[in-house]
Amino acid sequence: MNLAILDMTPEQLPAVTAIYADAVLNGTASYELEPPGLEEMTARFNALKDKGYPYLVAVDDTGFVAGFAYGSAFRTRPAYRWLVEDSIYIHASARGRGIGKALLLALLGRCEALGFRQMVAVVGGASEASMAVHRSCGFELAGRLVGTGFKHGQWLDTVLMQKALGEASTTPPDMSF
Ligand SMILES: CC(C)(COP(=O)(O)OP(=O)(O)OC[C@H]1O[C@@H](n2cnc3c(N)ncnc32)[C@H](O)[C@@H]1OP(=O)(O)O)[C@@H](O)C(=O)NCCC(=O)NCCS
Repeated sequence: MNLAILDMTPEQLPAVTAIYADAVLNGTASYELEPPGLEEMTARFNALKDKGYPYLVAVDDTGFVAGFAYGSAFRTRPAYRWLVEDSIYIHASARGRGIGKALLLALLGRCEALGFRQMVAVVGGASEASMAVHRSCGFELAGRLVGTGFKHGQWLDTVLMQKALGEASTTPPDMSF
């Protein structure tokens, strides 16, 4: 598959909505229980775009959207603003082919260039695949919140992983950020 990693356009939102719906219904990466519809996903996309966060898609040469990744605020209090959380979802038929890693590396590059100093992954259900893709991109374990979600009839641990970006905490941040 010949893949390009691009900024998402509104035309790709239905495909992204479907990938996310499958993950909500069948997985534990997201702690949402009801898949959001196209209108809600569009509102979320616009809110992130307005705040300057990157939202990327992996697309093949037929236009098939194989996955998406975006940055968002970990918490909204202003002193956290140099910390970005990543979210990444690959179409169930396209997993295990390096697409997640390619998307995450692209997202890391974009966030670093924008001036973020740390990225955090909040790994729902302590998923092996999610921890593996983050480890593979240089993230390290930052903590484990035991029994913090309940979905599909089981208690879930939430793993935090972290990667430093750019000058990280070695220099003061850009206060105009
Ligand atoms: C987690 C997810 C994004 C990984 O994407 P992917 O395209 O399947 O992963 P890749 O093929 O890029 O693999 C990246 C690395 O993870 C490893 N990996 C991937 N799936 C794995 C699995 N199920 N178990 C163990 N390792 C796995 C690969 O071996 C590879 O390691 P390497 O770089 O050392 O060779 C994808 O499986 C997915 O969308 N899962 C459901 C949603 C989810 O969990 N999102 C994460 C939210 S934090």
